Amino acid sequence: MYNYLNPLPPFMNGTAAKWAYVSMAALAALPGQFNRTALEAPWATSDVSDPVLAQTLDYLNTTDFVAYDKRFFDIIGPGATIDHVQKLAFQSHEAPCYIKDTNQLFFVEWGPPGGENGTHPWQYLLDVATNELRKITTDPPTFNAHGCVVYNHSLYVVTDGHGDEESGQLVKIDPHSLKQDVLLNNYLVQPFAGFNDLEIDPRGNFYLTDSKSGWGRGIVSFTPPTNPTVYFVERETYRIKPVHITDGNANGVAISPRGDVLYVPDTGLSSYYPVTKSPYGKRALAAFDISSSGTVLSNERMLSNPISYFYDGVRVSRNGWIFCGAGDGVDVIDPESGFTLGTIRVGGGENLAVSLAFGRNELWIVGRGGVWHVKGVRERLDRDW
Ligand SMILES: *[C@@H]1O[C@H](CO)[C@@H](O)[C@H](O)[C@H]1NC(C)=O
Ligand SMILES: *[C@@H]1O[C@H](CO)[C@@H](O)[C@H](O)[C@H]1NC(C)=O
Ligand SMILES: *[C@@H]1O[C@H](CO)[C@@H](O)[C@H](O)[C@H]1NC(C)=O
Ligand SMILES: *[C@@H]1O[C@H](CO)[C@@H](O)[C@H](O)[C@H]1NC(C)=O
Ligand SMILES: *[C@@H]1O[C@H](CO)[C@@H](O)[C@H](O)[C@H]1NC(C)=O
Repeated sequence: MYNYLNPLPPFMNGTAAKWAYVSMAALAALPGQFNRTALEAPWATSDVSDPVLAQTLDYLNTTDFVAYDKRFFDIIGPGATIDHVQKLAFQSHEAPCYIKDTNQLFFVEWGPPGGENGTHPWQYLLDVATNELRKITTDPPTFNAHGCVVYNHSLYVVTDGHGDEESGQLVKIDPHSLKQDVLLNNYLVQPFAGFNDLEIDPRGNFYLTDSKSGWGRGIVSFTPPTNPTVYFVERETYRIKPVHITDGNANGVAISPRGDVLYVPDTGLSSYYPVTKSPYGKRALAAFDISSSGTVLSNERMLSNPISYFYDGVRVSRNGWIFCGAGDGVDVIDPESGFTLGTIRVGGGENLAVSLAFGRNELWIVGRGGVWHVKGVRERLDRDW
């Protein structure tokens, strides 16, 4: 029926979700005229002259899961489903953290047009059993949370800061009492530009991405003090040092299961005042080897550049697969070859995948349009720490 698709493998017969398996070989030499921008998914264009290709792209735009590689079937499996569990505004939702102890998803509405001129003193907690959503305020309030990781039963959250009163912070939140403590708010008296995300290594050390996005969207009013920077912070001593600096932009960050590789997407494609995105800007996902101290990154290589749009939130699963919020959906990337194995889609149109959080055999995606729950995933996704 669709000449550009492979049949699904037999064990994927009768899935609850709608799947497609793209044939890269069949797509290799297209007939006629075609075009798309690098910022949109292949199925978001109607600029193709071959009617069979047009029909295939229309079909792909209705799927839940698109495979490019057969390993994607082994990772996700036939039992997986995706549900749009919270329909929220078409604006950024960010900082998802799955809290196992309370069976809740922490996440935020980020930036403009929401909040007060884009500023948010509150966050969301979603009870994943009942799907009850409530707004919370920590004690004291946390302004403009942007990234979250759970470690040792606490939430570690980074913020952009707030107006000209507060620069970016790393805070610790008790998920039961909602008590908040500021752990870090400066680099030897230098303010941060505005944190975007963080990662925590198996020993509890932090990698913090300091970005231009908070300044670019008017959340902090002071000029970024440096170019976007990834900082390492040693848990026991609070010794801190830059480990990566870019003239693009810093965004997500994630570490491999053995703690020896760091993945950092660049989002230099976004520029501000006015907000625009250019296909000529940086979008690549870089991989770095991490020294045993955790404090030196080396051997930078371009692991992957997104098929479309840009990588925002990044998480690495228990078995090392790299999951990236990538606009049309969450792309799953092979850490060795860098190939995109498949995409978990969030419905097309204005829906947009920004970031994600793992449970055991499930994940939650947050983005423009709300929250999606992917359950029944074959491989275990959450990690040991
Ligand atoms: C797949 O399912 C269809 C019915 O939905 C059935 O006719 C077909 O034999 C099945 N194929 C395999 C390989 O299990
Ligand atoms: C493809 O479309 C873009 C606009 O989205 C245009 O700038 C470009 O010239 C087109 N390329 C071709 C080969 O038609
Ligand atoms: C929000 O922005 C408007 C327009 O710039 C300004 O008049 C207003 O004071 C701002 N409100 C706050 C709370 O900053
Ligand atoms: C986890 O937190 C507890 C209580 O605060 C502390 O005693 C313990 O050392 C922490 N464990 C790790 C691995 O940080
Ligand atoms: C893809 O699907 C979405 C959701 O149904 C729709 O809004 C959008 O227009 C579709 N895109 C194309 C190019 O057909």
